[in-house]
Amino acid sequence: MDVTDPGAVERVLGELFPAVVIHCAAVVRSRGANDPGAWAITSRVNVFGTGVVARACARAGTRLVYVSTDFVFDGSKPGGLYREDDLPSPIGPYALSKLAGESLALECPRALVVRTSFCADEGWPYPRAYVDRFTSKERASVVAVKLVRAATSDLVGTLHLGGPRRSYLDLARTLSPDVEPATLESSPPGHPVPIDTSLDTTRWRGRFFDS
Ligand SMILES: NC(=O)c1ccc[n+]([C@@H]2O[C@H](COP(=O)([O-])OP(=O)(O)OC[C@H]3O[C@@H](n4cnc5c(N)ncnc54)[C@H](OP(=O)(O)O)[C@@H]3O)[C@@H](O)[C@H]2O)c1
Repeated sequence: MDVTDPGAVERVLGELFPAVVIHCAAVVRSRGANDPGAWAITSRVNVFGTGVVARACARAGTRLVYVSTDFVFDGSKPGGLYREDDLPSPIGPYALSKLAGESLALECPRALVVRTSFCADEGWPYPRAYVDRFTSKERASVVAVKLVRAATSDLVGTLHLGGPRRSYLDLARTLSPDVEPATLESSPPGHPVPIDTSLDTTRWRGRFFDS
């Protein structure tokens, strides 16, 4: 369904009566969320659409799990490893829209906001990767399993979910051993990238200690 269509969302929830909704729908960066002129669609889907889903879940008594991003942080914290209670500092329309979506999602009783980041299961999509940029991204299939565990738990509020903090190069080489190193200095001017948006997953590990 189109999450910006309240009637469609109500109808689907009414037909399926799910115990949990995992809300992943968004206009994302790789699909132009930050492009000039894209704010209308980015905000419509990521903010208004999330409000639609949150209200429908609240009315149906359905638990809402909202997939958010490490990019709610600007990546300037020395050493990274952002905690759930660190103050967000979004850079750009995509990150801002996801943060706004978080606050709407949290209006739904028993909601869980999961901040994470992930990559394809196989193959790094570029020939090079940064040695001086850090992440706690992990493979999408691993994140998916953890997400379902969190969704079917009684955790509420905000949860950081991901793998160990590592450089993009270290991550990339687990997927494609021949990836070459690059440095942020060589990135195109005018396109600032967050340096370290790795997430502290202590809350996750405290609950699911085997993961
Ligand atoms: N990739 C990451 O590392 C990462 C990190 C943190 C959080 N996230 C979050 O994870 C979720 C999935 O992202 P992704 O990277 O996997 O991107 P994606 O493949 O583009 O997934 C987004 C999905 O949202 C759907 N969508 C867009 N507008 C919609 C609407 N109005 N109604 C219903 N569905 C709509 C898209 O459907 P169509 O294909 O039909 O357009 C697409 O399937 C997003 O919420 C994103 O913010 C991703």
